[in-house]
Amino acid sequence: MEGKEILLGVSGSIACYKAAELASTLVQAKAGVSVVMTHAATQFVTPVTFEALTHRPVFVDLFDREYVASIAHVTLADKADLLVIAPATANVIAKLALGLADDLLSSLALACGAPLLVAPAMNDRMYAHPAVQANLRCLRERGARIVEPEAGMLACGHEGQGRLAEPERIVAAIRAALCTS
Ligand SMILES: Cc1cc2nc3c(=O)[nH]c(=O)nc-3n(C[C@H](O)[C@H](O)[C@H](O)COP(=O)(O)O)c2cc1C
Repeated sequence: MEGKEILLGVSGSIACYKAAELASTLVQAKAGVSVVMTHAATQFVTPVTFEALTHRPVFVDLFDREYVASIAHVTLADKADLLVIAPATANVIAKLALGLADDLLSSLALACGAPLLVAPAMNDRMYAHPAVQANLRCLRERGARIVEPEAGMLACGHEGQGRLAEPERIVAAIRAALCTS
C-alpha cells in the first residue's frame, strides 16, 4: 500500500468506531489516508480521532472557508487511488446510486475517477430493503466493489445481516482493488 492515496469516506453509522481502526491499519501499511466525514458521522466519532490517526486534516464541510481556494471535493478526488466508504449508510448508498451531491462526501464521489469500494453498515431490515438492495446492485453494475456486511447481533438488538465487515476484511478488499486498478 506504500505510496497509495486512499480517500476514506465515513458516514453516520454506529459502526464509525470501526472506521478509526481501519484508518489506523491503512496508515500503518504506509498508505496516505485522507478522511471525509458526513455531518452525521461526526455525531458518532469526532474528526479529531481521524486527524490524530492519519496526521492529516479531516474534511466535513463542502463550504469550508479555509479550503475554498483549493476546492476540497475536487483536489481530494483528483489525488485518490481509491475511494473507500466505510461505514456506508443506507442514505449515502442511495445518494451514490442517484448521483446526488448535497454534501462534501457525495460531491467528491461524483468528482472522483478512482475505483469505489463501499462497505455498508445498517440495521438488518434496512439492509434487506429492496430499495437498498437495488441501490447496491446499481453501484455494482457501475463497477463498485461492495464489502458485504456480516451477520450477527446488531447494535439495535436485532440479529441479522448488517454489521460492518471487520476492518481486516475491508483492508483485504482495499488491497485487491489497488492491485487491479
Ligand atoms: C444511534 C444511531 C445509529 C445509526 N446507525 C446507522 C447505521 O448503522 N446505518 C445507517 O444506514 N444509518 C444509521 N443511522 C441513521 C443515519 O445516521 C441517518 O440516516 C443519517 O441521515 C445518515 O447521514 P449520512 O448518510 O449523511 O451520514 C443511525 C442513527 C442513529 C441515531
